[in-house]
Amino acid sequence: MMTRHSDSYRTPARLFHWLIAVAVLLMIPAGLIMTQKGIARPLQDALFLFHKNMGVILIPLILLRLIYRLRHPAPPLPSSIPAWQRSAASVSHWLLYLLLIVMPISGFIRVRAGGFPIELLDRLGVGPWLAKSDALADAAKGLHYAAGMALIALLALHIGAALQHGLIRRDGVWTRIWPPLRPRS
Ligand code: HEM
Ligand code: HEM
Repeated sequence: MMTRHSDSYRTPARLFHWLIAVAVLLMIPAGLIMTQKGIARPLQDALFLFHKNMGVILIPLILLRLIYRLRHPAPPLPSSIPAWQRSAASVSHWLLYLLLIVMPISGFIRVRAGGFPIELLDRLGVGPWLAKSDALADAAKGLHYAAGMALIALLALHIGAALQHGLIRRDGVWTRIWPPLRPRS
């Protein structure tokens, strides 16, 4: 079923969604692989470089997305969706936003309080902003790990639900956020 324009996310919301989704879906495996024991040093260095720097680039992008979202409520879901699924969608989307804030900020604190570089910010002459503190770095590391695992679990549900809507139920939920491939009627 095709959705009407008013039932779909606007273009900026779709762009934000897919830009951040692709980045996060690369950040997660990079984070998991670079922390493995016995990984080759050059690969580990390259993954850390990518993960830290892509992570800080994501911070302003995520904040802009959140501001945009607060100013533009989600379009109404098709009436065929039961109430409990509407609530589940809303709760899980706000949890995803929360984790999208917690992840890069805890990563930033873990790295800076640990006294490590973030090459992009260092090149731009941005100071470390945080004094070195092993206790703070450890706490941020624990939070980054726990929030990362929660994000992976929630994304499995999120992507599973999206595929179910798109491939099985074909109820228009998928096309609400998928970039329009043909002009809308
Ligand atoms: C293959 C990967 C993905 C697919 C197929 C997908 C699919 C979707 C779909 C169909 C919606 C619209 C739901 C609705 O209309 O109620 C949506 C919304 C959303 N997605 Fe994804 N998604 C993916 C990856 C991600 C990732 C990696 C993130 C974040 C880390 C994410 C965060 C969100 C958020 C926060 C919303 C709610 C948008 C809003 O109401 O502001 N998604 N996604
Ligand atoms: C959306 C953004 C981010 C996501 C989804 C993400 C995800 C992950 C994941 C899944 C891991 C592996 C689990 C763990 O050991 O914690 C990890 C590790 C790590 N991440 Fe991130 N991360 C993000 C942002 C950042 C940022 C901005 C930084 C630093 C500037 C960062 C620094 C690190 C570090 C240093 C580790 C290794 C932790 C350790 O064992 O010391 N991350 N990240």
